[in-house]
Amino acid sequence: MLLWHEEMSVGNAVIDSDHHYLLHLINAIELACATQQPAASLRVILRRLTDYADLHLAREERIQLAMGFTLHSEHELSHTNLREYLKDLCVEFEHLATVSEGAARLEHLVESTRRWLVEHLMQEDMSMKPLLARLPPTFAA
Ligand SMILES: [Fe+2]
Repeated sequence: MLLWHEEMSVGNAVIDSDHHYLLHLINAIELACATQQPAASLRVILRRLTDYADLHLAREERIQLAMGFTLHSEHELSHTNLREYLKDLCVEFEHLATVSEGAARLEHLVESTRRWLVEHLMQEDMSMKPLLARLPPTFAA
C-alpha cells in the first residue's frame, strides 16, 4: 500500500492532486488483487488508471510548456513510454485476473505499477519543482 508523503509534493496543487488520485487507484488495484475481487472489478479500476494517467500526463505536458520547462521534450518522450508501459501492464493484468494460477504474477504486476508511480513522481516530476516554486501553487494550463 502506497502512502502519500509530503516529500512527494512537487509544490503544485493540481499535479499533486493528480498524483494523489493515481496513488489511490494503484492502492485500489492492490486491494482488489489481495481480496480476490472479480476480474470485472479489477478491469474497471485498471481502465480508470490508464485513462487518468493519460489525462495527467497530458496536463503535465501543458503545464511544462506554459512555464517554459526546458526538459519538456525529454518528458514528453518519457511520457509516451510510460503510457505504453502502463497499457502493456494493464493488458497483462486483465489476462491474469481471469486465471487463478496468475496470482504470483499479479502480485509482481502490482509492485511494478507501484514502482512506476514512485519513479514518475520522485525521479521525473521532481525536476519541475524549482520552476513550479516560482508560480502560484494552483498554476495550471
Ligand atoms: Fe506526474
